[in-house]
Amino acid sequence: MEIIHVSAECYPVAKAGGLGDVVGALPKYQSQLGHFAKVVMPMYRTRFLLDNEWDVVHKGRTNLGDWWFDYTVIKEKTNKLGFDLYLVDVFGLLDREKIYGYPDDTERFTAFQICVVDWISAWGHQPDVIHVHDHHSALIPFMIKHCYKYQLLNQIPTVLTIHNAQYQGWMSWDKSYYLPPWDPWKWGALDWNNSINPLASGIRCAWKVSTVSWSYLEELKHSANGLEALFEYEKGKCSGILNGIDQSIWDPSTDHYIRERYNWNTEAEGRRKNKSVLCERFGLDPQKPLMVFIGRLVGEKGADLLPMAISDSFYYIGRKMCFLILGSGFPEIEGQLNALKRLSQHDYNVFIGYDETLSHQMYAGADFILMPSRVEPCGLNQMYAMRYGTIPVVRRTGGLKDTVVDIGVPEGYGILFNWASVGDVSHAIWRAMALYNDKKRLHAIREKMMGLDFSWESSVMQYLELYQIVK
Ligand code: ADP
Ligand code: GLC
Repeated sequence: MEIIHVSAECYPVAKAGGLGDVVGALPKYQSQLGHFAKVVMPMYRTRFLLDNEWDVVHKGRTNLGDWWFDYTVIKEKTNKLGFDLYLVDVFGLLDREKIYGYPDDTERFTAFQICVVDWISAWGHQPDVIHVHDHHSALIPFMIKHCYKYQLLNQIPTVLTIHNAQYQGWMSWDKSYYLPPWDPWKWGALDWNNSINPLASGIRCAWKVSTVSWSYLEELKHSANGLEALFEYEKGKCSGILNGIDQSIWDPSTDHYIRERYNWNTEAEGRRKNKSVLCERFGLDPQKPLMVFIGRLVGEKGADLLPMAISDSFYYIGRKMCFLILGSGFPEIEGQLNALKRLSQHDYNVFIGYDETLSHQMYAGADFILMPSRVEPCGLNQMYAMRYGTIPVVRRTGGLKDTVVDIGVPEGYGILFNWASVGDVSHAIWRAMALYNDKKRLHAIREKMMGLDFSWESSVMQYLELYQIVK
């Protein structure tokens, strides 16, 4: 099959979170099965762009409302990522350093989607499926269904994967003229609560919809940032497919980002060395267990609970555990986490920013990873952590619930808690402390986690089945 993935992120080209990891891996595994998986994304000004060689494959001209512009599609020459990678360049609009966060993001991603559809309409053939990811590409199913200019494409099956339904790409109706002329009778396929809602439109217009875990799909029927009724209504075409992890990148025995590589035979020594590297860099006591948090410092991830939960635990369990945070996000949370450094007695530090190398070192050197997420569609951190022998301490929600089994049952290997509250997080930290003191059990759990299978193999097959149903 020829599968076109359309996404705002793809690792290692540009990544802000898990979406990048997934779009960097899924097509690779699809290609390994003999399919022609391609990824198309905006041409941001990233290192990857400068470090690689490109062919120009298409030049076109189209419009965003009354603004006409030229666009170029380039292709990476060597198939370096294991699939064909295409970047869409729109001068002055997409060629920026960051992926998101500009005041004209609506214009940027709408123009990007128009270019993708315009480019595909210029091909001499049609792909077997167009697979779009999140709201940045979710207008494409509407465009090929209802925009007059692209009617020839309306038989191409479309699949929308929702990685995060919190962000929906809302735009006001006065921007509806951005879209290529469309059938006005179909305005309902764009509208949700009096604004254009690209994610809602994708759910309505895509042939199939998937979410990145089964539990998240269930939760969306009750809590979907306003789209609950739509998920209930469209449940017949929705399914949950759990993400895998790219085990060729996330493997402690081959990972070039970490100081000391190890496998389950050398786990204890390898992890000890990696931990000491972290402790030395961040002024932490290596004799104490180390709990880390890696991620966006936003309410969705429960990051606002961290300052209070950590300072509480200093009293609750005593100064017996170290904490290290890596992330960036809301300035208030960043400020509070920075302020907490004043209380540190070689047991707390924070690195505000995005650092891929440091994140790998943390998965390899920490004893526990904390994820008090309010919403977690899948979550990759806990799976990476387990592969490196780091025990997840996570809230019972979404993909966390589907991938972690609490140590309260005999085959369990993680710590789960119910509520995104300081009390529940502190109690989970207390349980982690108790587990850490049981060295025999700790070792057995680490060994078990490192052998768990979170590979892409089964998920890739489920996507292929979904595409067949679509056809
Ligand atoms: P989300 O996509 O919602 O942020 P995921 O758990 O799916 O959450 O994926 C997060 C990905 O981003 C992981 O690969 C994680 O290691 C990475 N990550 C998040 N924040 C940072 C950071 N500050 N520095 C480096 N990597 C980060
Ligand atoms: C989103 C979700 C996260 C998921 C990732 C990849 O960013 O927040 O839970 O793992 O997408 O699907």
